[in-house]
Amino acid sequence: MELYIDSANLLHIKECVDLGCISGVTTNPSLMAKEDASLDPKEIILDIFKTVGGHVSVEVISTKADGMLREADEILKWFPEATIKIPMIAEGLKACRKLADQEIPTNVTLVFSPAQAIAATNAGAAYVSVFMGRLDDVAISSEEVLTDVCQIWEVQGYESLIIAASIRHPIHLVEAARSGADIATVPYKALMQSLNHPLTGQGLAAFLADHAKMLEAASKI
Ligand code: G3P
Repeated sequence: MELYIDSANLLHIKECVDLGCISGVTTNPSLMAKEDASLDPKEIILDIFKTVGGHVSVEVISTKADGMLREADEILKWFPEATIKIPMIAEGLKACRKLADQEIPTNVTLVFSPAQAIAATNAGAAYVSVFMGRLDDVAISSEEVLTDVCQIWEVQGYESLIIAASIRHPIHLVEAARSGADIATVPYKALMQSLNHPLTGQGLAAFLADHAKMLEAASKI
């Protein structure tokens, strides 16, 4: 399973990319709205693309297929490597099919059920984003839904990639990997939390203390 960062914050993205374990970025209108309102969205997205140098999903905000396609045209003028993120609604599927027919990659987002995921992949989605945290928020097991989707992909041989999104904590990330998701897109905080373990901290402190003792002993010889 690959790791993407789910963010529009350039500092967070830079920090995560420097870790060497991130191969893409997903954004959405809510994440974009958290950034400095004086910045041009196009500049934010281009800076993100320059920083990650890999997958960048940019979401459209139109609710009609024609509007989505116009927005996609504009985004692709910014950088042709963009993946166009499209909401899982009927109009979104129409736009997804048109873009897929032109070999433009799409990421169908706001997917909460296997039936939605099946429709998205048949409309030509390159990526299907299943939201974990928001399912758990309404007392539906996100791990069960994601496992179902991944099993269906296995049985059917669907080629689109499954993104586990709306990840809130490291356990979601592990569940996503166990389910068989291709990618987990993780917010900065959850990614940083996932790097830590108290035994790692304690172990490193002990190694450094022992090394210092050894140096001190050697200096007395
Ligand atoms: O990738 C989708 C994600 O940004 C939604 O996360 O935490 O708002 O449900 P959340």
